[in-house]
Amino acid sequence: MSILITNIKQLVQTRTHGISKVSGEEMNELPLIENAYLLIEHDTIVEYGSMKNIGGIIAEKTIDATGKIVLPAWCDSHTHLVYAGSREQEFADKIIGLSAEEISSRGGGILNAAELIKNTTEDDLYDQAVVRLKNVMQLGTGAIEIKSGYGITLESELKILRVIKRLKQDFNILVRPTFLVSLAIPEVYKDNKAGYIDEVVNTIIPEIAREQLVKYIDLFCDEGYFTLEETDRILEAGVKHSMVPKLHVNKFSAVGGVALGIKHNARSLDHLEQIKPKDIKALKDSRAMPVALPACSYFSNAPYTPARTIIDSGLPLAIASDYNPGTSPSGNMNFVVSTACIKMKMTPEESINAATINGAYAMGAHKMFGSITRGKKANVIITKEIPDYKYLPYAFGENNIDTVIINGIIVE
Ligand code: NIG
Ligand code: FE
Repeated sequence: MSILITNIKQLVQTRTHGISKVSGEEMNELPLIENAYLLIEHDTIVEYGSMKNIGGIIAEKTIDATGKIVLPAWCDSHTHLVYAGSREQEFADKIIGLSAEEISSRGGGILNAAELIKNTTEDDLYDQAVVRLKNVMQLGTGAIEIKSGYGITLESELKILRVIKRLKQDFNILVRPTFLVSLAIPEVYKDNKAGYIDEVVNTIIPEIAREQLVKYIDLFCDEGYFTLEETDRILEAGVKHSMVPKLHVNKFSAVGGVALGIKHNARSLDHLEQIKPKDIKALKDSRAMPVALPACSYFSNAPYTPARTIIDSGLPLAIASDYNPGTSPSGNMNFVVSTACIKMKMTPEESINAATINGAYAMGAHKMFGSITRGKKANVIITKEIPDYKYLPYAFGENNIDTVIINGIIVE
C-alpha cells in the first residue's frame, strides 16, 4: 500500500539520516517544510518535499492535508502500561489527605497493585493492556517502551513480561520491553532485602533472560529504594545477561545514581527531578539520554525535572509519559508535550524534539523512528486544521489529532 499526503501546511521534524539525538541549543531547532507532500510505501517514508516538486507522483491512496500539520508520531520511552485495575479510590483518598497506611488498608499502594496482578489471569491482564495500548496509539504514540515492575514476584513479573511480548507480536507498533526490578520489596522479604536482591540476581534475571523477554533492565535507585551498592550489583547481573541498563534515578535525592548508571553505560536516566552539578557533568561525558516525566510531576504535585538547567548546559533531554496506575495514570503524550512547555519552560520546538527523536534514542530506536526521514518507518501524526505546530502544545487538553499512521498503516 502506498499513501501520498499532499498540501501539508507544515511538515515538521524533517531530518537527514545520521542524526540520533539533539542536544542543547539544537533542541530549539525544528526543521520543517511548508506546503509539503509526503510519500509512504508499505511501512516506510520514501520521499517528501515541497508541493512545487511533487512531479507526477501517484499512490494507491491520497490524503489531502490542506491546513493540517504532519509530524512524527510520539516516541514514548518510559511506560508501565501493563497493570491490573486502576486506583481512583487512592486518588480520591490522597486528595482528602489520608495517610499511606490508611490508603493501603483501603486497597491502595504498590503492594495491593501487585496482589491484584497476582490474582489476574494473563489473558485478563493482556485485555486490559490492549485497551490502553490502542488508546495511546490513537493519541499519536507510534513507538513505546513498556516496563514490568508491578509484579514483584518472579511469577507475576513473568506474567507481565509475557503480556508485553504478546502486545509486541500482536500490534503494529514498536514495543521495547524492559524488566523493571520490583517497585517494592515483597512481604516475605520485608526484613531481608539482601535475600530479595539475591533472588533477583540469582533467579529472576537469569529466568527472564532465558525466556528472552526483554531488551532493558531498570530499577529505582533512590532514597527509600535501592542503594548505590544494591543498584550496582543488580545492573551488573543484568548486563551479564545482555540486558541494557536504564534507571529511575534522582526522583527524591541526588545520591550518585546518575554516575552509577553511566558507569554501566545506561541508555537512559529517567526522572532527574533532583539534579546536582556533578550529575550534569557526568551526563555530559556519557551516551545516556536524560528523560523527564512531566505528567508524573503534574499528577503527584511534585517537583518537575529542571529542563532548563539540563538543556542550557548543552545536554539532550527526552520526555515520556511514565504511564502507570500510581503516579501517572495517563499515556497521553500530547499532554506531556504541553506540560513540558507550560511547567518546565521548554519551547514547543524543544518539547517536540524531546518527544520524538530524543524519545526514540532513549529506547534505542532512533535509526528507524522519531523524525521524518527517507528510509525511516512511516510513523506520522496528521493534525486537524490548526494554525501552526506550536498550537499543539498551546491548546493543552484538546485533541487536535485527525489521523495517526503507524508503520504505514492508518490507526483505526
Ligand atoms: O514509585 N514509575 C512508577 N513508579 C512509581 C510507582 C508508584 C505507585 O504505583 O504507587 C513510584 O514512584
Ligand atoms: Fe516509571
